[in-house]
Formats: sequence, structure tokens, C-alpha cells
Amino acid sequence: MAKITQSVDLAAHGRVAVLTVDNPPVNALSQHVRKGLHDGIKQATADGAVQAIVIVCAGRTFIAGADITEFGKPPTEPSLHTVLDLIEGSPKPVVSAIHGTALGGGLEVTLACHYRVGVKGARFGLPEVKLGILPGAGGTQRLPRVVGVEKGLQMMVSGDPIGADEALRVGLIDATVDGDLAAAGVAFAEKVLDEKRPLKKIRDLTDKIAVARDKPQIFAEFRKSVARQTRGFRAPESIVKAVEAAVSLPFDQGIKRERELFVELLNSPESKAQRYFFFAEREAAKIPDVPADTPAREIKKAAVIGAGTMGGGIAMNFANAGIPVTVVEVAPEALDRGLGIVRKNYEATAARGRLTPADVDKRMGLIHGTTDWGAVGDADIIIEAVFEEMPVKKEVFAKLDGLAKPDAVLATNTSTLDVDEIAAATKRPESVIGTHFFSPANVMRLLENVRGKKSSKTTIATAMTVGRRIGKVPVLVGVCYGFVGNRMLHQRGLQAEKLILEGAAPHQVDRVLTDFGFPMGPFAMGDLAGLDVGWRIRKGRGVKAPVADRICELGRFGQKTGAGYFKYEKGDRTPIPDLEVEKIIVDVATSMGITRRAISDEEILQRLLYPMVNEGAKILDEKIAIRPSDIDVIWVYGYGWPVYRGGPMFWADSIGLRALRDRLLEFKKQSGDAFWTPAPLLDRLANEGKGFIGA
Ligand code: 3HC
Ligand code: NAI
Repeated sequence: MAKITQSVDLAAHGRVAVLTVDNPPVNALSQHVRKGLHDGIKQATADGAVQAIVIVCAGRTFIAGADITEFGKPPTEPSLHTVLDLIEGSPKPVVSAIHGTALGGGLEVTLACHYRVGVKGARFGLPEVKLGILPGAGGTQRLPRVVGVEKGLQMMVSGDPIGADEALRVGLIDATVDGDLAAAGVAFAEKVLDEKRPLKKIRDLTDKIAVARDKPQIFAEFRKSVARQTRGFRAPESIVKAVEAAVSLPFDQGIKRERELFVELLNSPESKAQRYFFFAEREAAKIPDVPADTPAREIKKAAVIGAGTMGGGIAMNFANAGIPVTVVEVAPEALDRGLGIVRKNYEATAARGRLTPADVDKRMGLIHGTTDWGAVGDADIIIEAVFEEMPVKKEVFAKLDGLAKPDAVLATNTSTLDVDEIAAATKRPESVIGTHFFSPANVMRLLENVRGKKSSKTTIATAMTVGRRIGKVPVLVGVCYGFVGNRMLHQRGLQAEKLILEGAAPHQVDRVLTDFGFPMGPFAMGDLAGLDVGWRIRKGRGVKAPVADRICELGRFGQKTGAGYFKYEKGDRTPIPDLEVEKIIVDVATSMGITRRAISDEEILQRLLYPMVNEGAKILDEKIAIRPSDIDVIWVYGYGWPVYRGGPMFWADSIGLRALRDRLLEFKKQSGDAFWTPAPLLDRLANEGKGFIGA
């Protein structure tokens, strides 16, 4: 075995040379990997004893792509293009043997090889779109030549990987293998030699792209089919353009076009934001005083208290992950209603072809409904999702304290109540934590785990680990009213209400936010969630929201009553501006002595989003969030902040904190409202010319 570089070895297996990449954790194509592959291929092709070459990876995966940490730095030789040209141009067959995930540049390495084999569990994808770029090492030119234009477009624009069976079916790999991977690769290479198979260069394949040449409407149809989910993103359109080039231009010119489009994307603000977010998401898993090796409780069984809107959804998460879950309700009717909705949800998914009827039965089989509290006794985690009332929560936790096993984690899904007060209802506050799911709980990825004053490290580690296991993105936050997400949302809501009183229409406010990239604005969101929820909370707290209260008094609770801030046609969720609401707004404004005026889109955007950033700064000062990027993760996964704008804190940095702070001061001067006082952290960073990220 010869070491080529620190991460690439070359070994002889008879007449087959095996190049092994070993660059933990994911075998990214760092400079020394590219150099190792480059020099290894050169050495093997020059060696008269070698007749074929196999590329394989050590560790948990095949190459997972370019080294993202190298992006934005000066390029280092050899480039991936040089390496791939060398592989494809090798006079001796090169076979890649794949396990784990062959992603991005990793899949592009395999596409430059003459043959590909993979283990059954391997996955293959070009996820560059998720980083705001396109496959920049020939992927846009080679993939359509192998799998066809439509499949290639779909894989590259979604960024989602496919499994080995599908890869074999669409011709992306030549065989599936099992047993020792290097040995299987060598055996395949021997077969290629024995059968004198040709050097299959994907660049020379033309049949699949010729089909598209005769059907140019493929591209228009594809663009139309993805328009909604790609709105606001830059990379998807560039990918389509690159594939058009693959169809219309010779290979080398297509590669040139791909390169131009790649560089353009790499320098775009969207890609910078998306690359930042890739690392932000991973960073959120790290808690400074709860290191990765902190023992977490093993979760074999879960329990959920309450089968309402949230309880049912939370239970589904566990069942989806194969974890049995007991759901406890007060009365059989409430239980039947709750579990009935769960079944209906699963059946709707099955009707769309995304689950088989057998899956539905299996998942329902993992959910055990009961009114017997004793059933929580063997649960490793119990999540309470009952009414949002402190006395009820306290009663439930006192009861759980007496029934749960000693090492169980007791979690509350409260969205506004004090987790420490709830924990104090038990004799084991160290086992109590908040697990704040977002609605619909079976769909939304965000999980705000709320650390109480006494939550133990094991309790925290367990909530973080189980969150990931059930497919969520957990972010640890501290106790305060509304935690991180809703506390910031509240600031936006206050301004939205003021803006309509001062002269903006609800649909203008909503449009400004959808133009920014949110899936919907605050008023359409209120109508979707139900305006009665906030109304009831306000009444309980003795707080008023004059317009919203008037709308609710008319029984307009949003979509469910066919009218709220907007009106709705039967069976249609499209919000339609309603003159009746505009009249209410004008009446309320008049009664409050407000002179209405035209308000620009720019002012609306600033007044909605700058206060959120300001609140984020307070949240950081109070150490409610660990780091600014955690706030960004919360907003992208919990509230639909467009990922191509990074999140509110990253976005604020891109505007410049000085400009943002100064605008807050202008609003303060104009309105005389202390609401606009810049947070001390924002003020300090603005004065120092710094941003939140990396400050
Ligand atoms: N470059 C640099 N670091 C990377 C990386 C990459 N491509 N992929 C993952 N990492 C790092 C992560 O930041 C993380 O670091 P940390 O432990 O310090 O936080 C570590 O590797 C492990 O990653 P995950 O926590 O994500 O591990 P998982 O096992 O959950 O997932 C994975 C593994 C599926 C490979 C996932 O990491 C992933 O999706 N990676 C990105 C894949 C990708 O986007 N590839 C395309 C890159 S762009 C490209 O190739 C351009 C080309 O066309 C020219
Ligand atoms: P819900 O009213 O839909 O459901 C509550 C359920 O709890 C009802 O089925 C009720 O019968 C049951 N219940 C009440 N007291 C009980 C008791 N003592 N024992 C067992 N079951 C009992 O309420 P929802 O919306 O599901 O909210 C539950 C919790 O989740 C609340 O704390 C809420 O603040 C929080 N939350 C709600 C979100 C939402 O969008 N609805 C979002 C995030 C958190």
C-alpha cells in the first residue's frame, strides 16, 4: 500500500489498483483528496502491471462532495475538473465502488469513471441546489446523458438523492454489490477486463439527450412544474439552463457554460446565505456545556399527554420513526377524535402515494391510545400537550411525577408558559424540559427545546437526540415569554397591526412579505391558524388588538369560517381582499385619531423585520439563544424565512447593523415610541462596525 497524500492510498490487488480515499468525516474533496486522486490515477496508469483502477472510500460514506469550507477561498490545484478529465481519459478502465452517499462532487467523480457499482444501501445525488449552486464538475452535462434529461433535471433541481435500486434502474450504476466493497469493486473491474468491455465515457453518450433535442418543450414544462417550490431561488433556473446547454452544445462547450453559471451562483448572495445556513444548522446541534459525549437516555417508548392539534401530530413523529407511543386523554371521545385525525392524516398521505396502506396500519399500530394514566409508567419520554393553562399543566406534571419511571424525561409542549414553574410541580425538575413543536407538528421541522433552570445535561442531550431521531431540527433555547421564535414574531405582529391602521392594506403587507420570500404574510397566516386562538389569549391577558378583536367579534375566525382578514371562496384557500375589513380598519383608525397615509413597500418591510432583528439582539444579550445562527435556524425551519436570505440575523448583517440601527432611531424619532429603541447589543455592534455572525 502506498500513501499518495494524507488522505489517499494506492494498493495493488493483482492487476487491479485500488485508490482509497480516507478523509473523515464525509470524505469531502479537499485539496489533498483531489491531489491524491490525481497523482494516484497517474501512477496507476503509468504502472505496466496495472490494468484497471477502482476508486473506493473508507469510513462511513463515499465522497459527499466538494469541501464546502474551501468555497470562497482562492482555488488550489489540481482542480476537480483536471482530476475528472484524467479519470475519464484514463486508458485503463476506472470503476467506482460506492457506499454511503455519493453526493455532489462525489457523484461527479463517479460519473467520470467508466463504470459504477454500489452497495444496496448507497444513495446518489447532486444536492448542490441546496447550497445555492449547481453541480460544477460536469454533473449538469453528464447526469442527463446517463439518466435522461427529465430525471436529471428532477434530481438536480430537487437535490434529493435516489437509492441504489433506482440508480440501477435508471442506468446511473452498472451493478449493485455486497460484501467487502473494495473486493467487490475489484471483482467488477476483473469482469470488465475479462469481457473486454469498452471504456464507457459518459461524455460520448448522446442517445438520451437526443430525445430531448426533439422535444424542446421538456424545459418549458419542467420550469412550470417547479415554479412554485423554486420561487425566489436562483440556482434552479441556472441548472435548467446548464442542462439546456448539455442538450444543445457539444460536451466541452456545455462544460464551459456550466462553469460560467457555477461561478455566477457561487458569488451570489443567495448561495452565500445557503452555505452559511448549511453550517448554521449543524452548529445548532452543538451545546457548549453539553458536549456531544454527554450520555442521553435511550428512547424505546414515548408517551404524549393530550390528543389535540399538537398531541396527535407529536405522536405521529414517534410512530414515523418506529418508536411506540402511548397517547393519554381525559375522555374516550377526545381520544377517538384525536386518533381519528391522525388516521385521516396518514390516509391522506397514502392517497397521495407517499405511504402504502400497510405503512398506515404499521404506524397506527405503534400509537396506543388510552385514558389510563398508568400506561405512561414505561415511557422513556413523556411529552405533555394539554390546554395552555398553568394550573392544568401543573396538575398534569404532579401526576406524571408519581407515575413516570425515575429516569424518564418529562417534557412540555407549552408555547408561552414558564417551564421552570411547570418543573417545580414535580420533585424532579432536572428531568423536565420544554419541547416546543410547531404546527402542524408532524410536518414542521423545527423543535425549540427549552432548557429550564434545573434541566440536567442528560435531559437536554436526550431532548436534542430524540428530536433528531424523529426528523426534527432541534435548537436549544432558554425560558422567556414566547421563547425565541414567537417572541420575535410578536414584534412583527405588533407592527403589522399598526401598519394597517396607518394606511396599508392587509394584502399589501402580506405581499411585501411574500415578495421577500415568505410563503405567506401575517394576515393570511392568522386566517390559516385561526384568529380566535389569539383573541382568547388576549382576553385572558387583558390585552387588546383593536382591529383583530373587531374582526373576531363578527365571528370571522379565518379560513375555518370562510372569512377573517380576507374572505375565501368555498373550498379555496386563496385570500381575497375584503372591503368589509377595510371599512373596519378605517373605522378603528378614525376612532383612534390616526391619520391614514400611503405607506411604501420599503417602509413596510423595514417596520416588520427590523423589530424582529432588534428583539433577536435582546434574546442574544439575555442568552436565551446560544448564538445568532440558532435564531436563523429557528426562523427558517419554524416560520418559512427564505433560506436564500440566511435568516434574520444573517440578513441584518447583509444590510449592515449601523444602517439598521440608524433606521430604528429614525422610526423612534418619527413615532416617539420607545418600541424602536435599539437593543444594547445591536447598538454596540453597530458602533464597532461589526455584524452578529462571528462577532
Ligand atoms: N464539505 C465540508 N464539510 C462537510 C461537507 C462538505 N461537503 N459535508 C459535511 N461536512 C461536515 C459537516 O459540516 C459536519 O461537520 P461538523 O461535525 O464539524 O459539524 C460533518 O461533516 C458531518 O456532517 P453531518 O453532520 O451533516 O453528517 P451526516 O452523517 O448527518 O450527513 C451527509 C452526512 C449526508 C454527507 C451531509 O453532511 C451532507 O449532506 N453534506 C453535504 C453534501 C453536499 O452538499 N455536497 C455537495 C457539495 S458542493 C459540490 O460538491 C460542488 C461540486 O459540484 C463542484
Ligand atoms: P388542543 O386544545 O387542540 O388540545 C389539547 C388536548 O389536551 C385536548 O384534546 C384535551 O382534551 C386534552 N387535555 C386537556 N387537559 C388534559 C388532561 N388533564 N389530561 C389529558 N389530556 C388533556 O390544544 P393544542 O393546540 O394541541 O395545544 C396543546 C399545547 O401545545 C398547548 O400547550 C399549546 O400552547 C401548545 N402549542 C400549540 C400550538 C398550536 O399551534 N396549536 C403550537 C405549539 C405549541
